[in-house]
Amino acid sequence: MAVNTIGILLRLAKLWRLFLSFLMLLVVYLHYTHYFYRASDTTTKSPDDDDHLKIILLWIPPKCVDCSPLNNFKRGRRIFEQHNCEYTNCHIMKSHSFYNDIDFKEFSAILFSGRTITHTPKEDLPTTRNPSQVYVFVQLESNTRYPVCEKRYDDFFNWTMTYRLDSTIPWTYFVVKNKTGAVVAPSNSVSWVKDMEPISIKFQYELDSKYKLAAAYISNCEDSSRRLFFIKTLNQELQRYNTEVDVFGDCGKLKCPKNEKTTCLKKLKNKYLFYLAFENSLATDYVSEKVLNAYHYLTVPIVYGMANYTRFLPPGSYINGLELGPKRLAAAMNSAFENRTQYYSYFSWHNHYTIEDNYKNANVACDLCAKLNTNNRTERTRHFRRWWNPSLNTKCQKVYTTTKEWFFVKYTGVYSQLLQGDSNVKQKN
Ligand SMILES: *[C@@H]1O[C@H](CO)[C@@H](O)[C@H](O)[C@H]1NC(C)=O
Ligand SMILES: *[C@@H]1O[C@H](CO)[C@@H](O)[C@H](O)[C@H]1NC(C)=O
Ligand SMILES: *[C@@H]1O[C@H](CO)[C@@H](O)[C@H](O)[C@H]1NC(C)=O
Ligand SMILES: *[C@@H]1O[C@H](CO)[C@@H](O)[C@H](O)[C@H]1NC(C)=O
Ligand SMILES: *[C@@H]1O[C@H](CO)[C@@H](O)[C@H](O)[C@H]1NC(C)=O
Repeated sequence: MAVNTIGILLRLAKLWRLFLSFLMLLVVYLHYTHYFYRASDTTTKSPDDDDHLKIILLWIPPKCVDCSPLNNFKRGRRIFEQHNCEYTNCHIMKSHSFYNDIDFKEFSAILFSGRTITHTPKEDLPTTRNPSQVYVFVQLESNTRYPVCEKRYDDFFNWTMTYRLDSTIPWTYFVVKNKTGAVVAPSNSVSWVKDMEPISIKFQYELDSKYKLAAAYISNCEDSSRRLFFIKTLNQELQRYNTEVDVFGDCGKLKCPKNEKTTCLKKLKNKYLFYLAFENSLATDYVSEKVLNAYHYLTVPIVYGMANYTRFLPPGSYINGLELGPKRLAAAMNSAFENRTQYYSYFSWHNHYTIEDNYKNANVACDLCAKLNTNNRTERTRHFRRWWNPSLNTKCQKVYTTTKEWFFVKYTGVYSQLLQGDSNVKQKN
């Protein structure tokens, strides 16, 4: 009897597996025929949703090593509902080899990562396209590190989704919200509160434990923005005040392994007045999450990048290192060190704004879905490369070092005297 039962069970198990395979095939089939989307569509109420579900494809080639930031998007439709987007009739899918036979024309939008398209062979790109669908260029890394040189990308994308504020859909590393929760910056047209309230006595106490001037965390020693050289010069200037910047990470004197970065950053809160939020690339509008680290650990960021920071951060909440140059920066830092009343004023923005991480945020997904619903224009970027690489000819040359230096010289001309003093800066060819 028992043997018999086991036999039956084994047979059932086999059948079960067969059934599961069948079920999977069915699901795949229905997926292709968009059965699910149609079905869920009929249950939605919003008139905007009507009969059109917008399917967004994340273009992820089979051998994609690094497809960020596309990986940040959650698949499916929930993200739009969870975040109370204005439009929720969008559905995100990821492509991989599995979808080789799929008809790419069916997608409302296809998102391409700027990190991968430059080594995607032409054959791997979709071959047929639907004039009403949009191809979107997505990139959070700087154009100086990831130039796009292939001619095939001119007149290829319809929209752009990057850290640059002139993108079709800007995707910045953080957003500044006012006290009613409205996103006010980064934006090309922002109006900040003029006279900010001073911080509370309690908050002042919290800041009073700080006794060291400034820290930096630098793990990428590749120095296309010359930030390490700038810090060296800054430290020379700080000697006159008997102080210096503590540099953590692989490129500094104070070691801090990457996996302990958070522990090291935590020290900022009770110890340091300033944090050097120096960008590794000097590129228009490129302001990364480093600034956020500074604010998060209650330090004042010293920014160093090629953005117009008034469009990004509340006034009086940071010091612009690149604009001041090492000498004046050293003086400004020391002045706040000696006069805490002045230091407190760098935190007044807390009374009026909050700054939030936007890297994984769904804001941008909402924006994309909204634009897919409301856009009624044909848009194309005929001169995409000219837009993305401001110095196309130089940027796409093989001799990369020269280009970096060219970029630095062009955009930081004021510091030419600094550069002349540095023996490393020589034309490499
Ligand atoms: C926040 O910004 C929104 C939109 O600009 C505005 O309507 C609102 O009044 C602002 N709230 C405050 C507290 O400034
Ligand atoms: C920076 O941006 C602000 C606000 O958009 C603008 O008023 C100012 O002229 C800009 N500064 C530069 C140097 O472009
Ligand atoms: C310290 O800074 C505050 C605000 O900037 C200023 O009003 C005050 O005069 C300064 N105190 C000294 C001793 O310099
Ligand atoms: C596109 O939409 C806008 C506003 O919704 C409308 O004013 C415009 O006429 C439309 N354009 C076309 C070509 O349909
Ligand atoms: C997208 O760009 C392509 C190529 O430039 C163009 O043919 C197509 O009409 C554009 N589609 C939309 C919806 O803008």
